[in-house]
Amino acid sequence: MSHADDHVGTRRDFLYYATAGAGTVAAGAATWTLVNQMNPSADVQALSSIQVDVSGVETGTQLTVKFRGKPIFIRRRTEKEIQEGRAVALSELIDQTAQNPNLGGVEPATDQNRTMDEAGEWLVMIGVCTHLGCVPIGNNAGDYDGWFCPCHGSHYDTAGRIRKGPAPENLWIPIAEFINETTVKLG
Ligand code: FES
Repeated sequence: MSHADDHVGTRRDFLYYATAGAGTVAAGAATWTLVNQMNPSADVQALSSIQVDVSGVETGTQLTVKFRGKPIFIRRRTEKEIQEGRAVALSELIDQTAQNPNLGGVEPATDQNRTMDEAGEWLVMIGVCTHLGCVPIGNNAGDYDGWFCPCHGSHYDTAGRIRKGPAPENLWIPIAEFINETTVKLG
């Protein structure tokens, strides 16, 4: 990828980020007003989760939203990315745990244990490198067609698993679920 392409990708990520962020704030404020009349603990709970409309996310693109001060990558993977992720043996992985709190434990880092849906199309991750916290570049970056952290050269694959470089763990997955076909709830 050329520097020019890289820049375009970064800018596109930012535009997504800004658009989604504005929607998120509006939704969060409305929810807060409603529940604040009910009890003090419920408002805290509402602020700790957001709903993200993913209906506009095309296959092969990534939406980035901000949640609890961190970027969240919501990627709609291509068939090629899914196949690449599923073809990897656990023994090839640096971090063999799924890092997926939605499964509740220390499940193996299979591609299936990283994604939101059975088909493996949706991958939602915290966009923070597990080395020293930089935000990795996405859109098929790095040696493994996934994400690349240029700070110290960590390469993540199409399931966000660390494959090369100093990062010790796979990109973490946030608490997330589909509450309908086009809405992901974070938190
Ligand atoms: S912070 Fe990502 S490689 Fe160091």
